[in-house]
Amino acid sequence: MSLRHGMTPKMKPVAPKRTVTVSAIDIGTSKIACMIARLRPAPETDVLPRRSHGIEVIGIGHTRSAGIKGGNIVNLAEAENAVRQAVSAAEKMAGVQLESCVVSVSAGRPTSDLYAATVHVSGSSVSDHDIERVLAAGSHHSVRQGRAVLHSFPIGYAIDDTRGVKDPRGMLGRRLGVDMHVMTVDAAAVRNLMLCVERCHLSVEAMVATPYVSGLAALTDDEADLGAAVVDIGAGTTTLAVFNNGAFVHADGFSLGGRNVTMDLARGLNARIADAERVKTLHGSVLSGSADEREMITIAPADDREPAHTVSRAQLIRIIKPRAEEILEMLRDRLMNSPFAAEPRGRIVLTGGGAQLNGLAELAATVLGRQVRVGRPLGLSGLPEAAKGPAFAVAAGLLVYPQLAHVEHFEARRPSMLGNAANNNYFMRVGRWLRESF
Ligand SMILES: Nc1ncnc2c1ncn2[C@@H]1O[C@H](COP(=O)(O)OP(=O)(O)OP(=O)(O)O)[C@@H](O)[C@H]1O
Ligand SMILES: [Mg+2]
Repeated sequence: MSLRHGMTPKMKPVAPKRTVTVSAIDIGTSKIACMIARLRPAPETDVLPRRSHGIEVIGIGHTRSAGIKGGNIVNLAEAENAVRQAVSAAEKMAGVQLESCVVSVSAGRPTSDLYAATVHVSGSSVSDHDIERVLAAGSHHSVRQGRAVLHSFPIGYAIDDTRGVKDPRGMLGRRLGVDMHVMTVDAAAVRNLMLCVERCHLSVEAMVATPYVSGLAALTDDEADLGAAVVDIGAGTTTLAVFNNGAFVHADGFSLGGRNVTMDLARGLNARIADAERVKTLHGSVLSGSADEREMITIAPADDREPAHTVSRAQLIRIIKPRAEEILEMLRDRLMNSPFAAEPRGRIVLTGGGAQLNGLAELAATVLGRQVRVGRPLGLSGLPEAAKGPAFAVAAGLLVYPQLAHVEHFEARRPSMLGNAANNNYFMRVGRWLRESF
């Protein structure tokens, strides 16, 4: 296991006409989910736009996490054990044995950089070779020590002074430009997640950013085109991805989530963490109602020698709301410093288990001044009822990602060492991206 040249592993794109089995592991702070799906080529009318295959989930397993904090591995043996449990449950249900998988990354201080590159068009019109040259130039940048490239996407072309060109091939012009979105994370975070999965005798096909795949699963195509931000509120992390013109253009994140709300409740109510968690999911809210002072909830004591006590729903809201507001305000600051700020009409889609907090979407709409909805996995068949909610958007999105892996462009390191086959693959990848992604 190693990160070659600071790059996370990149998967072979799924061939458009083949049926394949793909597996996903979402390693979260509170739960680990493994999903196995069959991807079948489907006519465009039968799948969501930008997808070439229908996705049928054939196995799913999830367990409570151990050894993970804020999306980072803090106890390798415990985390490995939890991953093994989730994988083996999914394998049993699907009747297959996993060999490789796509894995989510929420930790590691995600950062996005935009790079622009321009080349002179070699003939009178733009050729595949020009596109290859400009992509290579746009991917040529240095990665800071200790960081790893998680994603690298071309997000738009320019010909001379015309920006926003979707497919420049064959167009007339003298200069061809490209904008690239390069997302990096702390290499140590990625390395330990990979190590954990590899210790379960699975190879990692790709490491993928949590909010990006959440968007692949939960955004409608219009939302991605018009401009939207996907915010995944997990237990230990809140991560965001901005989409514009159908492309993933920005990512960010911080280590706060539903777990912080639970800890506040446990302290404020003098309850055990598990009891605080239950009270939160059953009765927690950030929306005040007229009956809140009268509605009483019984809290088991943290210490068996003490009697149970009751609190009003209003008291619960008084503990929960400040933390929810803190998370939303931090989110607002991050979004203001992102391309989303330039899209005043862009909508926000919340995913992750934390998005299920009663009234959170309404509070978010107030704090963020945008339309907000709670998202869930779209366009997958075979999902059991328990996995249809926002907490499973990431695992579902990891199953969508293989169809889009070809959109990514990474600098071909040491081009002289690439054989012909590799070069052909490379051209196929770029060519297919141009045909399919818009
Ligand atoms: N009904 C609910 N109301 C409020 N919070 C909820 C509800 N259901 C789940 N949660 C919270 O959602 C969080 C778990 O979400 P999720 O499964 O997306 O996190 P994770 O992937 O394990 O963590 P992370 O992505 O941060 O590493 C927990 O904090 C849990 O308390
Ligand atoms: Mg998560």
